[in-house]
Amino acid sequence: MRYSYSDFGNKFLKQTGIGQLMDDLGNPPPGSCMLGGGNPALIPEVSAVWKEIVSKQIESGAMEKILGSYESPAGIRELRERLASVFSEESGSEISPEQIAVTNGSQNAFYFLLNFFSGRFPDGRKRKILFPILPEYIGYTDQTLEEGSFLSFAPDIRETGDRSYKYFISKNKFDSYPDWKREAGCICVSRPTNPTGNVITDEELSFLISKSAEVDIPLLVDNAYGFPFPGVVFKTASLVHKPGMIQGFSLSKLGLPGARTGFILGDVETISMLHRANSVINLTNANPGQFIALELFRSGLWKNLCREVIQPFYRKKTLFARETILRRWNSSIDYRIHESEGAFFLWIWVKNLSLSVSELYPILKEAGAVVVPGKTFFPGADPNWSHREECFRLSFVREDKEIEEGIVRIGRVLEKFSK
Ligand SMILES: Cc1ncc(COP(=O)(O)O)c(C=O)c1O
Repeated sequence: MRYSYSDFGNKFLKQTGIGQLMDDLGNPPPGSCMLGGGNPALIPEVSAVWKEIVSKQIESGAMEKILGSYESPAGIRELRERLASVFSEESGSEISPEQIAVTNGSQNAFYFLLNFFSGRFPDGRKRKILFPILPEYIGYTDQTLEEGSFLSFAPDIRETGDRSYKYFISKNKFDSYPDWKREAGCICVSRPTNPTGNVITDEELSFLISKSAEVDIPLLVDNAYGFPFPGVVFKTASLVHKPGMIQGFSLSKLGLPGARTGFILGDVETISMLHRANSVINLTNANPGQFIALELFRSGLWKNLCREVIQPFYRKKTLFARETILRRWNSSIDYRIHESEGAFFLWIWVKNLSLSVSELYPILKEAGAVVVPGKTFFPGADPNWSHREECFRLSFVREDKEIEEGIVRIGRVLEKFSK
């Protein structure tokens, strides 16, 4: 039987980009090197901290309350107070608990935010989400209730070495396409960016703050991999918070994706809207993540974990993956690696291939290497821009042996299909 569905229902009759990605990653062909996923690594020192916190909760009897009660949809008050003090200290700006919402993961939070600031507005106008730089996180793509809700600016691409390059915000685009001022309901960027590992500079961030202030729209910054936790950033940069910014944070990349806990920092009005939306859609937030976070921030343990364990772990991984590519790929492959400034991925650009990366994807899978083709990371881009089909994302989270084997397999396929 086939029911008739609403426009909202019809969105989910077909597979979505993020859904396909999650399905593929959940069902890898046997023996594959899984360089596709967004899971954090299982770092023993980090797992030991979760184990200790949860054991104490069980021993002290706190677990009964954690599993047996609904907490406020705004989030546990003490957790919001602790977060306010962490964000104040890290950004140097005064932040109050009323500026913080707890959500069931940042994906959930961005669903609310992207729909608060795009779609049909009371003045009858339709507004869009402006991505000031591409590529951008695949998970935003299908979140808007209205179709065609993205406006994107292609980046400036600069080669930074023989085999490396970096995307920059193309500031000229803001002048050459002045309609953005009328069309955009918010500006949105992830920092570090999933998929590229780009960390927009503090100066680029200031530029975006000034642009959003020009037209009184918020700047949404997604810090899922960034400051202050998990702090997977390999260059000098910092947490900046200014009026006009709404920022997302998550426990996931710290090592707790299963806890489904995220936080939003913003203005008091938008934060109250998030509390209300949360109670309508979710009733309230999951407790286990909130109570683990409470312990992390009460004890101050988070700082040492991020700076002494998690960041150095991923820094070593990115260097290993890059060095392996340089060592193991035939020099006939015309590739560049995006500067790895943060997050868990290398973003590879390969020119002069006889097939598009989407066409190569099943061949790579067959060859035993799962990556994520680049095309899905260009929401709102010109579909004729060939760059979309020349890039892919490679995760460096897995064991070194698997990373190396995967890189070798990818290299063989790329060599075969290089012109
Ligand atoms: C940039 C970015 N933002 C948000 C999320 C969502 O994370 P979560 O909902 O687990 O907090 C992810 C997950 O991969 C991500 O990469």
